[in-house]
Amino acid sequence: MIAGCIMLPVIAILYLRFGYLPVAVDGPVIPFEELLAGTAVQARIAREAPKKAGLPASEENLVAGAKIYREHCVDCHGLPGRAPSAASKGMYPPPPQFFDQKVVGNEQVGPDYWIIANGIRLTGMPGYKPTLSDEQLWQVSQFVLNRGKLPEGARAVLAGK
Ligand code: HEC
Repeated sequence: MIAGCIMLPVIAILYLRFGYLPVAVDGPVIPFEELLAGTAVQARIAREAPKKAGLPASEENLVAGAKIYREHCVDCHGLPGRAPSAASKGMYPPPPQFFDQKVVGNEQVGPDYWIIANGIRLTGMPGYKPTLSDEQLWQVSQFVLNRGKLPEGARAVLAGK
């Protein structure tokens, strides 16, 4: 029993130390990866994400959000009708291509705001708190949530017009 308690951490350390952890992006799933990357991340976000939107999804905010998206997010999350970038094809986990996805209407803006502000460790999703103001974080969050029903002005910004 005691020997087992000592052996397990030693085996875990040797496994890591001698290079058995599959770290390449196309490697197999790491033990406990899904528990950590999925369940634990969702639980933390559910605990901390704001329950109410900090800004409404007005046309003005969606246009501002589209500009921020074009400047900071396109290379990983893509544009409508454009093939995914080289960077996004080589990442694990892959960044969701927002304009290829079906948008479900019942999502909340709070969890997206949390992710955009704080980022997600070990995934390549950066946190934008050091770069964007709180107003800008809400604008781009509303933009991502409402990407399926953007007003004309925001679609024009997205198309680079
Ligand atoms: C360097 C690449 C990269 C950049 C730049 C980037 N993201 Fe991400 N993003 C990711 C990855 C990778 C994930 C997936 C994380 C995961 O699977 O847990 C992600 C996830 C997300 C999610 C969660 C999506 C979901 O369905 O759970 C949101 C929202 C998001 N990003 C918004 C943004 C916004 C807005 C910007 C720009 C301000 C941005 N990202 C810039 C890589 C990036």
